[in-house]
Amino acid sequence: MGVLEDKSRARTFYKYLSKVYDRVNPFIWNEEMRDEAIGLLGLEPDDDVLDVGCGTGFATEGLLEHVDQVHGLDQSEHQLERAVGKFGTDGPVEFCRGDAERLPFDDDSFDVVWSSGSIEYWPNPVVALRECRRVTRPGGQVLIVGPDYPNQTVFQKLADAIMLFYDEEEADRMFHEAGFDSWRHHIQQSRPGSPRAITTHAQVPEN
Ligand SMILES: C[S@@+](CC[C@H](N)C(=O)[O-])C[C@H]1O[C@@H](n2cnc3c(N)ncnc32)[C@H](O)[C@@H]1O
Repeated sequence: MGVLEDKSRARTFYKYLSKVYDRVNPFIWNEEMRDEAIGLLGLEPDDDVLDVGCGTGFATEGLLEHVDQVHGLDQSEHQLERAVGKFGTDGPVEFCRGDAERLPFDDDSFDVVWSSGSIEYWPNPVVALRECRRVTRPGGQVLIVGPDYPNQTVFQKLADAIMLFYDEEEADRMFHEAGFDSWRHHIQQSRPGSPRAITTHAQVPEN
């Protein structure tokens, strides 16, 4: 397990990274990639959407171009402070501090659950994916963006030491174990040679 697949360490990491997050993030996860992933969802303005690991609100902002309201959840108070600084507390985003592995929402609360760039920090990704499925209505959608496993051995060793990087086979296992029966993977990249994202768009089974 990578050093940052630990909730307390990840919180400390984001205490410092939150200061520069919006400046460094675009090198690996930019607006074009985000908007391409959002386009997979076919959102309607009145859809109930949850953004898990919303961070400073980069994806939240993109989601708000399509829907009237978003719920944003993150375990880092420092990341949430930045997000609240952008959207305020009376705006279209309802923020809450919480853990992806124990979502503080009732079953079937959302039409769409989105999470970008957060799964790699979750110590028990299958537990969190199960949570995403639980709070999404039957027939709804769950979209997870994570880091694709690098091809070169030297980067593989580094990746494994830091956090969860995974390939399509591993994603298949995780989504299957979390109770999904239908999904598709899309590999995304900001430019040739830069780190790739694995974006999985899953349907929540109808009852
Ligand atoms: C790379 S940032 C992604 C932020 C945003 N989603 C984006 O697309 O730019 C990862 C975020 O996941 C959050 N995070 C990590 N582990 C979490 C957990 N167990 N529950 C909730 N949030 C978590 C971190 O605090 C951080 O803000």
